[in-house]
Amino acid sequence: MRPLLLHLDHFGSFREPVSVDFSDTEYFALVGPTGAGKSTIIDAICFALYGTVPRWGKENVIAHALAPSAGSGKVAMVFESDGRRYGVVRSMVRDAKGAVRTKEARIDELDTSAPLEQAYEAVVKPLAEGENVTPEVQRVTGLEYKFFTQCVVLPQGRFAEFLHAAPRERQDLLVQLLDADVYELIRQQAAREEESAKQAASFARDQLARLSGASEEAERELSERVEALRRLAQSIDTDLDLLRAREGDIRRAEQERAAVAERQSVLSSLRMPAAVPTLASAGRAAAESLDGLSAEVASLEADDHEAYEARAALGDRAEPMAALAALDARERLTGETADARAAAQAEAASLEGIVSRLAAAEEALVAAERERERLRDAHSAADLAQRLAVGEPCPVCLRAVTELPGSADRPAHSLDDLATADRTLTAAREYAARGRSAQAKAETSAAMLAERATRLEAELAALPAPGDRAAIEGRLAAIAKADEVAAQARAAVRAARGRLDQARNDVQQVERQAETAWRTLETTRDRLLVSGAHETPPPPLTREDLHRAWTELLAWRDEAAQAGRAALAAREEELGQATARLADDRRKLGERLAEHGIVPPRGASPDQLGAAVAGTVAKVEGALERVREDRKRAAELASAVTEKEHAAKVAHELALRLRANAFERWLCAEALAVLVAGASETLRELSDGQYELALSDRTGDIEVIDFGEAGMRRSARTLSGGETFQAALALALALSGAVARGLDSIFLDEGFGTLDPATLDTVATTLERLAAGQERMIGVVTHVPALADRVPVRFEVKRDAKGSHVRKVGI
Ligand SMILES: Nc1ncnc2c1ncn2[C@@H]1O[C@H](COP(=O)(O)OP(=O)(O)OP(=O)(O)O)[C@@H](O)[C@H]1O
Ligand SMILES: [Mg+2]
Repeated sequence: MRPLLLHLDHFGSFREPVSVDFSDTEYFALVGPTGAGKSTIIDAICFALYGTVPRWGKENVIAHALAPSAGSGKVAMVFESDGRRYGVVRSMVRDAKGAVRTKEARIDELDTSAPLEQAYEAVVKPLAEGENVTPEVQRVTGLEYKFFTQCVVLPQGRFAEFLHAAPRERQDLLVQLLDADVYELIRQQAAREEESAKQAASFARDQLARLSGASEEAERELSERVEALRRLAQSIDTDLDLLRAREGDIRRAEQERAAVAERQSVLSSLRMPAAVPTLASAGRAAAESLDGLSAEVASLEADDHEAYEARAALGDRAEPMAALAALDARERLTGETADARAAAQAEAASLEGIVSRLAAAEEALVAAERERERLRDAHSAADLAQRLAVGEPCPVCLRAVTELPGSADRPAHSLDDLATADRTLTAAREYAARGRSAQAKAETSAAMLAERATRLEAELAALPAPGDRAAIEGRLAAIAKADEVAAQARAAVRAARGRLDQARNDVQQVERQAETAWRTLETTRDRLLVSGAHETPPPPLTREDLHRAWTELLAWRDEAAQAGRAALAAREEELGQATARLADDRRKLGERLAEHGIVPPRGASPDQLGAAVAGTVAKVEGALERVREDRKRAAELASAVTEKEHAAKVAHELALRLRANAFERWLCAEALAVLVAGASETLRELSDGQYELALSDRTGDIEVIDFGEAGMRRSARTLSGGETFQAALALALALSGAVARGLDSIFLDEGFGTLDPATLDTVATTLERLAAGQERMIGVVTHVPALADRVPVRFEVKRDAKGSHVRKVGI
């Protein structure tokens, strides 16, 4: 780790932003008065990387990072490590309660070619943020915080930590510096490899055991069998061709036998159609019947025509029917007219009676009214007589009454008489009214009847002149008779025609049957001709006598069937012989195949036999191929077993050597010995030959050999302050230079004040020599002008009311 640019803002005593550029210096000094802020700059480097500072004591306490009056602050640093450039930034804030916390922490890899003032912007790759920044810094620098503060930064007052450290701590530091923990990783890996190699060897052995059948002898046997089978396969074709020829013979014989059997079957199925023997006579009978029926139809048609003519001669039935209807109408109208007239006369006669009864009723009514008047007057007079007074004017004659009428003069009337007279009057009125109504009705009825009679007479007059009813009815009867005769004649014709059609059908059917029988005969004969192979052909055909033709063909069939039976027996014989020959050849071939372990299925065809041989050849060839492959694989497995067992043994040996950190311890012990030897040499120079360093065999502590005391050994803790600084410086320089991991820088904070001028000069010379090597950056913090003046680059640190400030001063 080599810092290039450090930026502080409100960190510790720095209350204003400040940048410190280390990029162009190898050796510098931080100078300034007590409390100026020099150590704070070294702290800032530490804080930027690890987030803590040695003097704060506990790690992870950042409360001190912020200047007390500041609310926020920041430390950022650009540095190089292993040829790469990194930028680390940590910023702090103080919250409302006054507690300081990290606001941002990040580390990025930066572009090495970017100018330093733009370094932070040239981010190549963000690496970590927050809590992950410190582990990432450890990875990048290769150092934990506690070792960083022992061999890169030697903090003020704590530079002797490594000198005084316990052997165990030193071991840890060296393990880290030397990357020696890699040997433990190697041991673990070796153990894993041993296990995996053992497993692989065991697996290969198992595989090998499974291939035990793949011997040289097995390969030889299979190879011989393949050869024998190939010879068999080459020679078997002739045998198979023979078998095929035999099978061909059998097939032909079977075909011939089948052909003969087919002909026999055709012959035996030959039947004369049942109708053939009677077909000729049936034809004749049907023709005769047809002739008879034709004559009958002709005769009946003549009768029908005659009847038709006779009927036509009688004319249309409508005319006599109309005359008859007129006659009927006339008779009916005549009767109705007479009835109407008689009724009218009767009505007129009854009217006379009604009129006379009405006159009597009118008279009775007048009499009744009169009687009623009279009775009323009588009653009124009687009434008045009672109210008359002599001398008083009479209400009737207006003259003075002179004398009262006597009651004896007047007939006695009661009121009952008046009521009876009223009832009589009412009855008379009703009777007279009924008489008037009856008269009006009779008059109306008589008028209507007279009118109807007149109307009927007019209709009657309009009718045509009446004919003779008997003549008309006679004519109608003749027409009906003629109709009946004509209908019967027509029905007879129709029936006869039906029978004639039937007879024609019968004739046609016989003809069809005959035709069918001829056709059957012809096709049968053709089939027989086609089936061929008869000694004599079927008899020739002339379409003359169907029955005879059929009979001749059947006779021929019987002869041909007999010859066919003999032929069938001969074919059977041939077939038997061919089958026996095939069976014999097949058995011989089967025996040959069995010698080669080939057992084909029963009745296998020549092709199947050939395929069985070819299949066996392929199978045995496959088996041979597999045995060869297995032998090859077995050889590979055997060498794999050897190889893996060897690898397991090597890994085992390696793990054994590295076990329990033995190698790591040995390596660190060696490194420490080299380190102490280097430091011892430096110390001898610094102490002007008085001291050397050595390791205690018993405790492992670093001891000093004091040549001022005859080379006595004693604990380094017994050295004075200045001597301790010399020894610690010697160790720190050896550490940063002599171990495997190059530590690119070293910062020494004070300690020089304890040296006398001569020693200081030696120290200064040593540092200058180291810086001249340009292998690492050296930074010192000192109050000692004698040293500060010799350092080529100085950063003057001052502090005023605004906090600390820094200024670079070159020589
Ligand atoms: N966390 C802090 N906050 C505020 N001030 C601090 C903090 N730490 C240190 N200081 C003060 O900052 C000033 C600078 O301290 P620093 O240790 O850097 O001084 P120095 O220059 O190294 O002095 P010396 O020569 O005595 O070692 C001192 O006054 C110190 O008390
Ligand atoms: Mg200081």
